[in-house]
Amino acid sequence: MTDKKKTAIYPGSFDPLTNGHIDIIERALDIFDEVIIAVLHNPSKKALFTMEERVDMIKQSFNGRKTVLVDSFGGLLVDYARMKNAIAIIRGMRALSDFESEFQMALMNRKLNKEVQSIFLMTGFRWIFTSSSIIKEAAQFGGDISGMVPEAVELKLIEKYPRIKQ
Ligand code: PNS
Repeated sequence: MTDKKKTAIYPGSFDPLTNGHIDIIERALDIFDEVIIAVLHNPSKKALFTMEERVDMIKQSFNGRKTVLVDSFGGLLVDYARMKNAIAIIRGMRALSDFESEFQMALMNRKLNKEVQSIFLMTGFRWIFTSSSIIKEAAQFGGDISGMVPEAVELKLIEKYPRIKQ
């Protein structure tokens, strides 16, 4: 039997990457040989950061780690996963409130492609209340968001919202 590299996709909007995302990625790396962080290109969803900015911040946060690849995708996630020979889609689950939409998405993805498994990792307790949107809201009104996002993201948020308390 040949040793095939086990690749997982970690898809999302990442507008922006948070420490909660990083926690999920680190834990996925305990299971998979490599994780592709795939940023969804969705022209109908208004994002704070451009695709280029989001990809750049993620790359900076992982500092050239060989097992973490960063990419963008459009269209169906399962098609992208197939193209990348990924065997799994990773999603983080924070609270019960995430369950319904994640369940729906996983069932649709399974209907579309039975070869890719959806794997859910429970968010670390520390990050249970962390989300990109709540961080953006706090930052917009000058709240201290240090410790919730990697440094590259914090600097970029300060650039967008200079009132952030440090
Ligand atoms: O970070 P998000 O916004 O919760 O990520 C959502 C994402 C990117 C995982 C989801 O919107 C997605 O997979 N979009 C691609 C389109 C697709 O495949 N849809 C069918 C499955 S529901």
